[in-house]
Amino acid sequence: MLNVVIFGAPGSGKGTQSELIIKEFGLDHISTGEVLRNEIRNGTGLGKIADEYISKGLLLPDELIIHVLTGVLDEKRGTKGVVFDGFPRTIPQAKALKKILNERGTDVAVMLNLDVEEDELVRRLLERGRLSGRQDDNPDTIKSRLEVYHNQTAPLIGFYREEGTYHAIRGTGTIDEIFGLIKKKLESLTTDC
Ligand code: AP5
Ligand code: MG
Repeated sequence: MLNVVIFGAPGSGKGTQSELIIKEFGLDHISTGEVLRNEIRNGTGLGKIADEYISKGLLLPDELIIHVLTGVLDEKRGTKGVVFDGFPRTIPQAKALKKILNERGTDVAVMLNLDVEEDELVRRLLERGRLSGRQDDNPDTIKSRLEVYHNQTAPLIGFYREEGTYHAIRGTGTIDEIFGLIKKKLESLTTDC
């Protein structure tokens, strides 16, 4: 299986690039942020809890989000591989993902880190906030999301370096240019298999 962790700060292009990857390589996509926003739209119990955290730009507790991820992953049995977008976001989540995949006879093939400077991240998120009104794309919540990224999520770079699956991708330029870099890396992995 080709399991890809697409990684980066809020606004780095994880969702945008995931869409292109799944089309090109025939993979499934799990965005934990999308899963939670759906729950909020449907007014479920999980949605109500998620709303509290998302509106403040904070992460849901590890135990809860790992439970959610496991459930979604189990719906994708028989897949060629999964693009994990927005998960893992903490070291316990990364360890849990490894365990869950290992139990299913597979592992993360590569972690792609979309590298984008902070000014550009803020510009993209504010612009999307103006256009689409995603509730967490406002100046206060963006500030909190970026702090949470630096404190809780960026340490995963070290985790995946040690795993030997870390790969940095320049995350600025056109969407197609960035996808070209990703495609080259993923093709090198599929021909290695
Ligand atoms: P999540 O939905 O994962 O949001 P995020 O990480 O903040 O990232 P975004 O979705 O905003 O950005 P992206 O990297 O996907 O970029 P995109 O392609 O959209 O998480 C939301 C919340 O859910 C979290 O804060 C947390 O509360 C909760 N949550 C989710 N997962 C969790 C977990 N594992 N544990 C605990 N809590 C969790 O692009 C952004 C914008 O830029 C778009 O408008 C796009 O069109 C534009 N753009 C993209 N590429 C380019 C480019 N090359 N040039 C110019 N513009 C571009
Ligand atoms: Mg996203």
